[in-house]
Amino acid sequence: MARLINAMATEQIEHKTDQRAYSPGLEGVLAGESSLGKVDGERGRLTYRGYPIEELVRAGTYAQVAELLWTGVWPDSAHLPTAPLPDPVVAALRALPPTAPPMDALRTATSVWGAINRPGWPPTVEQARALTALAPSALAAFARIRQGKAPIDPDPELELAGGFLYQLFGATPDPAAARALDAYFITGAEHGFNASTFTARVITSTQSDIASAVCGAIGAMKGPLHGGAPSEVVNQLHQIGSVEHAEKWLDDALDRGERLMGFGHRVYRAYDPRAAALRQVAEGMAGMADWLSLAVAVEDMALRKLAQRHPDRPLFTNVEYYAAAVLQGIGLPPDLFPATFALSRHAGWTAHVLEQAVANRLIRPDVRYVGPAERSLPGVGATR
Ligand code: ACO
Repeated sequence: MARLINAMATEQIEHKTDQRAYSPGLEGVLAGESSLGKVDGERGRLTYRGYPIEELVRAGTYAQVAELLWTGVWPDSAHLPTAPLPDPVVAALRALPPTAPPMDALRTATSVWGAINRPGWPPTVEQARALTALAPSALAAFARIRQGKAPIDPDPELELAGGFLYQLFGATPDPAAARALDAYFITGAEHGFNASTFTARVITSTQSDIASAVCGAIGAMKGPLHGGAPSEVVNQLHQIGSVEHAEKWLDDALDRGERLMGFGHRVYRAYDPRAAALRQVAEGMAGMADWLSLAVAVEDMALRKLAQRHPDRPLFTNVEYYAAAVLQGIGLPPDLFPATFALSRHAGWTAHVLEQAVANRLIRPDVRYVGPAERSLPGVGATR
């Protein structure tokens, strides 16, 4: 360590000689154009191709939303069942340790599918449909394989959300649960240039294939800063336990400098419209009364405390808070929450892949160099 510090002291570091604008995390940088989703963080509005999220949740299905994102046209009806898994995908899922993170299983299944099918350039709507339909079957199969159970073939009559529940639990899903999951899928389908979508676009910009782009997107979403919050919301509410304990628990957590899960957002400075839509869905679900009344009471208290502690920084409920309620109400194990979020985002990822390919330009930004200035290797002095 001392040697390293001495070496650094004698080195000439090129420090910020490049004066071009730089925004860490690309925050506030316009890095592309899209006609898919519009996230209006100030007003708390989200639209897909101009249609507000609350209308899409109320009157649409995930299959219609996916077609809208892929083709630009709102179909009167659409049917998107889950897809059968090719044998090599099942073999790869069986080869994974049962303790593997479900996101890794999903990424592996996508990668094997890509190696078998070799989707070509340019990407197509058919490829987008195929990958979106593959993912729920793959996740359900892994969830069963890790418990020593056999995977279940898709029911072609069911839509994606209901089909996923059928292949996961092995029973015809309750229509209300399938509808609630479908609504969750709609709210998760698309959200602008988030980290995973941007990753998919970067990969596509090299003219790589759609399966590689989705693998990269799943990898980006696996990070806890992107896809990990809903299971943390469930933990948080379990720890709080009852409304009487909430005030002290929240104060203690904030005093320790901890983040309250399901609150705050990089873009929204208002109530996340997806949280509002999912709260309505959760309120309509059977068997949710106790859990939901705790969640609502904790939310009210948390919003009050966040406003007191951060008067200059609007901090509101984000989508993950009520996503947790819906996913928990359906009976999904919390360790499947992040991968279930990934299932929903397939429509958006693949729509961005198609959009990127239509007006493609290699995404290759510059980096500001802050390393050593040009120098000679030790013992190889310049002879100039
Ligand atoms: N609880 C308590 N304080 C918070 C929270 C929170 N959930 N979110 C932000 N703050 C505070 C920060 O401590 C910071 O305070 P300071 O200025 O005194 O240090 C201030 O608000 C600003 O926070 P930033 O980190 O600058 O906000 P950023 O935009 O980077 O963070 C994020 C957004 C990561 C979502 C953050 O709000 C957070 O960690 N939330 C909890 C995790 C969560 O719910 N994630 C899901 C997000 S939705 C999604 O990904 C689909």
